[in-house]
Amino acid sequence: MRISIIGSGYVGTTIAACFADMGHEVVNVDIDEEIVAAINSGKSPIHEPGLDDLIATHGGDMLTATTDYDDVLDTEITFLALPTPSREDGSIDTSIIEAAAESLGGTLQDKDGDHVVVTKSTVIPTTTTETLAPIIEAASGKTLGDNLHVAMNPEFLREGTAVEDFLDPDKVVFGAESDTALDTLHGVFEPLIEQTDPAIVDTGIEEAEMIKYANNGFLAAKVSLINDIGNICKEYGVDAYEVADAIGLDNRISARFLRSGLGWGGSCFPKDTAAIKSAAREQGYEPRMLDAATEINDRQPVRLLSLLDNHVDVAGERVAVLGLSFKPGTDDIRNSRAIPVIEGLNKRGATVVAYDPVATENMRERFPDIKYADSPKAALDDASAALVITDWPEIADLDDEFDTMSTPVVIDGRHAIDRRDGIVYEGLTW
Ligand code: UDX
Repeated sequence: MRISIIGSGYVGTTIAACFADMGHEVVNVDIDEEIVAAINSGKSPIHEPGLDDLIATHGGDMLTATTDYDDVLDTEITFLALPTPSREDGSIDTSIIEAAAESLGGTLQDKDGDHVVVTKSTVIPTTTTETLAPIIEAASGKTLGDNLHVAMNPEFLREGTAVEDFLDPDKVVFGAESDTALDTLHGVFEPLIEQTDPAIVDTGIEEAEMIKYANNGFLAAKVSLINDIGNICKEYGVDAYEVADAIGLDNRISARFLRSGLGWGGSCFPKDTAAIKSAAREQGYEPRMLDAATEINDRQPVRLLSLLDNHVDVAGERVAVLGLSFKPGTDDIRNSRAIPVIEGLNKRGATVVAYDPVATENMRERFPDIKYADSPKAALDDASAALVITDWPEIADLDDEFDTMSTPVVIDGRHAIDRRDGIVYEGLTW
């Protein structure tokens, strides 16, 4: 099939490369000429395992990038994969996707035959039907249901495993209310469905929009719930990981997303929980569970710092911060739990020496005045305490590197380090 994707960000580029790999002819439209040139020359504009290879294979061939919306006219279906950033109050700003819908609509004036427009971005229920569809209708002069169809197909990929997640998903959700939209979507995903046989959810457009928020809200709340339980465990000297191993055996709970510790960060969980909470309030509903999930998440770094305070007065002391990215396998520091931890250390007058295998440069923009070490050992040298923020394997493997600390206090926020002789070890929830 011939597919167009508007937006070459994280999701857009990944799905463009994956669709090309599934044998489709893909056009990726973006306003950024550098990104367009990179894709056409076979180079990935973002760092994601497996994506370089896919774009090297298909870029400039089955996958072409362009700044010209007219290239959409040769395609049957367009996915809108544009950012929906958070506003100050947590609600999403849809101006970028609305502008893209308007440009797309203008182009579709010249389209003969059916065209399906699919929202891939994460949007609040009714955005596709009540905001985007009218914009596309007005700009194209077409009427919904008559050669123009809209649908919603949420994306569940994770940073660091995006290609794998896209090509081998647990489920694919099609929010569509016309046969043309649904059949076209099924056609796009046919090769993937044949290969990996995921669960297919055929549902309404608003339901599809909500499924994405429910998915992320539920997972964020699951982590916060195990953190709440983990904090109680800690008060009684109980190991929350042993408790989680046992409750995870109950199929109704499941073993995944039960790692307690410093909590969740990244670009999706914080943004999506804030957005759905804000939307709920707009409707007059108080989302208590999701509020609590956020509150508990904000409290975990505070608890880590209070465990530190129990052992060391860090004013004027070197403190090693091990790991800066929001999770291992990425250089993304958005909403990383490292940020409130470093702020807390700065407030206490500590000399922060941070280490991360890949996220240092990103964190340097956020905190230009702290020290950055080239290795965990250099961060630990002469430090009065070490805080484990991200469970990178090379941090989990640390051993006699702790020997050169001036006082070997290690507070672990991720259950990464083994207790061992010679260090004073505290786990956040164990
Ligand atoms: C998430 C969703 O998983 C994905 O489906 C959605 O499309 C985007 O948001 P991502 O942000 O890449 O993906 O990260 P994920 O691996 O889900 O982890 C999210 C956060 O939760 C991380 O900060 C991680 O450290 C934390 N987490 C996860 C825990 O603290 N404990 C756990 O048991 C699992």
